[in-house]
Amino acid sequence: MKKPLIQIIREAKGELPQADIYLLLAYALGRRKEFLLTYPQYFPTRAELEKWEEYRKRRLKGEPVSYITGEKEFYSLVFRVNRSTLIPRPESELLVDEVLLRRPSNLLDIGTGSGNIAISVKYHLPECRIVALDNSEKVLLTASQNACRLLGRHDIKFIKSDYFSELRGKKFNVIVSNPPYIKSGSIWDLAVEIRLFEPGMALDGGQDGLNAYRSILNEGRKFLEPEGRIILEIDPELLNHVLDTACNNRYRVEKIAKDLRGDDRVVVLY
Ligand SMILES: C[S@@+](CC[C@H](N)C(=O)[O-])C[C@H]1O[C@@H](n2cnc3c(N)ncnc32)[C@H](O)[C@@H]1O
Repeated sequence: MKKPLIQIIREAKGELPQADIYLLLAYALGRRKEFLLTYPQYFPTRAELEKWEEYRKRRLKGEPVSYITGEKEFYSLVFRVNRSTLIPRPESELLVDEVLLRRPSNLLDIGTGSGNIAISVKYHLPECRIVALDNSEKVLLTASQNACRLLGRHDIKFIKSDYFSELRGKKFNVIVSNPPYIKSGSIWDLAVEIRLFEPGMALDGGQDGLNAYRSILNEGRKFLEPEGRIILEIDPELLNHVLDTACNNRYRVEKIAKDLRGDDRVVVLY
């Protein structure tokens, strides 16, 4: 049965959040969200309705909107994402803020995922030389496609590496990372849309959630210029454990930055 957009939206409101409805319906129509507000009496075609129904059902089964639409906005840029990349989170924008504040001439991004951090820095600081690494080939392909699409010609080096394993001899002003930090035993407590759809490798921080911090902090000093900084995203509950790991490796804390919810989210070490 033919229905105008306003009716489709009204019917979906009982089962999905409004933001998801607008994103998925706009995607089904191949239009921007503003179209839905401007033309509430528009009657979608049969093909558009079929797409909407497919997306609605996938969302109801828990699939995140960004995996359905294949994109996520981060630092005002739109990144392509897929089931091999973590969906960039708004709180990780704080990492980009902290990097840009320091205007490094070179940067290492560990666990680059969709490339969201490295590419956002490069967009705002084109002269910064950037190496972005990940241990997943698939992720690196997506990141380098995002870089070409968002930056055009660029010189970010995307490297497949298990943490620092392929970086012999290189030194950086800033090392930034949003590493996997969920305790292995807590993955099953996460929301369905994270636990069933996002890549385990991007989430699992080992038994105590600290595996990645240990790898980065044990070896990081060798790859840091004398005045360099390591900027890490953390789970607020892990703050003291991350600080202990840092202290054991003779780092000092320059700053602990809070996210918009007021939680400790980023630590800056030297
Ligand atoms: C939490 S995700 C962060 C992705 C992206 N930087 C972001 O902020 O959305 C962690 C990333 O670390 C990568 N990773 C996990 N283990 C790694 C390892 N041993 N060496 C390098 N990268 C690793 C994962 O593939 C994933 O892309």
